[in-house]
Amino acid sequence: MQTLGSFMIYTRIVGSGSFLPTTVVSNNSLAKDLLSRGIHTSDDWIVQRTGIKQRYLAKDDINTSYMAVESAKMALTDSGINASDIDLIIVATSTPDCIFPSTACIVQSKLNANRAAAFDLQAACSGFVYALSTAESFICSKKAKNVLIIGSEKFSRILDWNDRSTCVLFGDGAGAFVLTASYDCGILSSCISSDGSISDILSVSGHFEKGEIKGSPFVKMDGQSVFKNAVKVLEESARAVCNKACVDISNVNWFIPHQANIRIIKMLGRRLNVSDDKFIITVDKHANTSAASIPLAFNVARLDGRIKNGDLVLIQGVGGGFTWGSSLVRI
Ligand code: ACO
Repeated sequence: MQTLGSFMIYTRIVGSGSFLPTTVVSNNSLAKDLLSRGIHTSDDWIVQRTGIKQRYLAKDDINTSYMAVESAKMALTDSGINASDIDLIIVATSTPDCIFPSTACIVQSKLNANRAAAFDLQAACSGFVYALSTAESFICSKKAKNVLIIGSEKFSRILDWNDRSTCVLFGDGAGAFVLTASYDCGILSSCISSDGSISDILSVSGHFEKGEIKGSPFVKMDGQSVFKNAVKVLEESARAVCNKACVDISNVNWFIPHQANIRIIKMLGRRLNVSDDKFIITVDKHANTSAASIPLAFNVARLDGRIKNGDLVLIQGVGGGFTWGSSLVRI
């Protein structure tokens, strides 16, 4: 939010969209596939430790920009704003189509969003809240009026399908918001944070060097450290954004934390003294889609009628870097 003369400029969500690939893989089906390669897991183990029951996986011909474009088209239609009126496109992703051009530039071209500046933003699973906060800064400083932000991930590309401790956790998909400058309502407060000193608990170290891949091309994770740090920073940043906006946590209608693990979400709820039914949960169906998880969850709850105009929604991301952030939004 920004004061201009006597007027407040807010960043308002005016459209949302999402895309999921057509292939649904249940835990049982994944366990059977892994067993054929001598790797043991089970539906029971995955559900008990994570809450995940299935995930959507993109086939070879579906890439990050394709999913981003499909979710963006839905968000633009929902908003009633034309692609040609978008000033800025930010794509949050850890799985870009290539090093450059950015996935955002590919999306800009496919949408014919000819006026828009476009760039990618890499903050792993926190990418979408980082994009939301960045877009807010552009809008409130009047550098942009209409902004399209997208979280899109083909995470299956960077999973080691022989590592049962990570490959069962993730899925593919995309989600998008159209944001616009408004005098009415919108983002009340937001914060983004990082702690690079614990970057080793969640990483993909691989990079190109002189024509070769150095480091690992796959996700490596210390699950228990990620768990503890995620709960801690999500609680702290929920309290921080609510305090900043002078809103009591009990007045928030809906909580949309990053969808990584139901146990993280339940522990967060206990620490904030918020009942389970105020949390939007999609991790059971989508698994962890990294930067796409929040807009995917938002769109599910918007379409099924739970999130209504006027509701207060707390959106929270956390992930590799280590990074985290929150936005408190009046819909
Ligand atoms: N199936 C069966 N057994 C498994 C599997 C699997 N898929 N994966 C690991 N195990 C085994 C381990 O080998 C170990 O066996 P052992 O006791 O014989 O050595 C046992 O299960 C326990 O392993 P832990 O790693 O200690 O299991 P833990 O209870 O910590 O659960 C998990 C692992 C689910 C990853 C947990 O640490 C967690 O939820 N961490 C949060 C991290 C997260 O959600 N990350 C998502 C990405 S990060 C983000 O988005 C923020």
